[in-house]
Amino acid sequence: MESNNQHPIFKGIELGIGTWSWGDRLVWGFGKGYDETDVRQAFYESIAGGVRFFDTAEVYGQGKSESILGDLMKDMHDSLIIATKMMPYPWRLDKNALKRALKRSLQRLGKQSVELYQMHLPLPPISPEKWMSRMVEVHAEGLIDAIGVSNYDLKQTIAAHETLKKFGLRLAANQVEYHLLDRHIESCGLVDYCREEGIKIIAYSPLALGVLTGKYTAQNPPGGTRAARFSRNYLDRLQPLLKAMARIGNEHNGKSTAQVALNWVIQKGALPIPGAKNANQAAQNLGATGWQLKADEMDLLEDLSKNLQRSGWIKEGR
Ligand SMILES: NC(=O)c1ccc[n+]([C@@H]2O[C@H](COP(=O)([O-])OP(=O)(O)OC[C@H]3O[C@@H](n4cnc5c(N)ncnc54)[C@H](OP(=O)(O)O)[C@@H]3O)[C@@H](O)[C@H]2O)c1
Repeated sequence: MESNNQHPIFKGIELGIGTWSWGDRLVWGFGKGYDETDVRQAFYESIAGGVRFFDTAEVYGQGKSESILGDLMKDMHDSLIIATKMMPYPWRLDKNALKRALKRSLQRLGKQSVELYQMHLPLPPISPEKWMSRMVEVHAEGLIDAIGVSNYDLKQTIAAHETLKKFGLRLAANQVEYHLLDRHIESCGLVDYCREEGIKIIAYSPLALGVLTGKYTAQNPPGGTRAARFSRNYLDRLQPLLKAMARIGNEHNGKSTAQVALNWVIQKGALPIPGAKNANQAAQNLGATGWQLKADEMDLLEDLSKNLQRSGWIKEGR
């Protein structure tokens, strides 16, 4: 459940939109099957449905995702919460690297400051403590409102949060993979720590890269890099879970499997940021809010997904 000591940028935010696919050709095939017109419509559909939180990163489509968002926001009067990320490439060693990357992101987004700035990965050689002290500097300059990390395990999250506390700040969020097929953040202590400290868990890939929509099967597997992650055999093993999700959704006034997957994340107190390539997907994902899975339905889904766990970055015991 949502803890009440979270950073104010998350007040009233139940669902966001992830924009990795807005410009990314390598994983998502931007330009083949969907294009800029489609993602613009996904944006307008989301705004019309009340979504205010958009997640992007400097690396998504090598800046294209940020540029598309920036262009879309030009004529907007409503204030949005934009979360972007810096990739700590191992060659970004000098003291001003973070600020330079941030300035380039702000330029693409057409903004003076960004609501949430996140360290994309816990990559060496620079420590979480050092990155956080660089975050403190750009925060002091008014370039960012809140500080986040992504893919940080428990130890790294504690290090980041404790560093920020020394400067009178706090860690606002940790963005990690979280959905019914990857629940490792629950067993490694990260969920408990974040709840106690009011650090928002932002759940990325909340549809397991589309697999939890139920549209992919052994006969119709996803293509590209997703094929390597979800074998036909694994897709077969998912069927009992997907069938239960479809049945439960039906019993909630015809909610879809995707909406059940996202509602599960919301009931866990995390903020799902599903990717949407077009207006239809955006519209459907909006239907994940405004209702609640019952406790016995949550239990059943967790039971059925127990032997299907796949871990991404955050692993037990790390
Ligand atoms: N911090 C990190 O390291 C990190 C890593 C990954 C993602 N993220 C963030 O999390 C966001 C979401 O994750 P994600 O894009 O990886 O995966 P996701 O949200 O689990 O899946 C998104 C994909 O599922 C399909 N889809 C979405 N809604 C659908 C619907 N209603 N019906 C049918 N298909 C639907 C679309 O792909 P198809 O139509 O091609 O199936 C879409 O691109 C990203 O955009 C990004 O902002 C962050």
